[in-house]
Amino acid sequence: MSTDEPKGETGIRLYERNCSNCHGMDGRLGNSGAKDLTASKMTDEQIIEILEEGKNAMPPMAMLMENPSDMDSIVVFVKSLRK
Ligand code: HEC
Repeated sequence: MSTDEPKGETGIRLYERNCSNCHGMDGRLGNSGAKDLTASKMTDEQIIEILEEGKNAMPPMAMLMENPSDMDSIVVFVKSLRK
């Protein structure tokens, strides 16, 4: 378990609860046309933007993040799925 995040939830928990039903825990599930996150080349800013605005079949997700640090945690986790 990660203990280096004093506030908020860890990225993996946030991802499991909010993202894995479409993207899968490995990022490659592709439900509802979800993009393969292992092949994503988005910058941190672009990831934050899609989480705030949504895109096509992806709903905006940012309102589900209760702590400001949650957004950072999820961006770090999403990038950790890359090859
Ligand atoms: C309802 C299904 C659904 C959920 C839930 C969902 N996504 Fe997505 N996601 C999509 C779809 C569909 C796309 C493709 C959007 C497009 O470009 O048309 C996508 C695209 C993305 C992309 C862009 C990848 C790229 O390089 O184009 C990222 C990053 C992403 N999602 C992260 C997340 C994260 C993080 C969460 C959870 C907080 C999440 N998604 C939750 C469906 C979902």
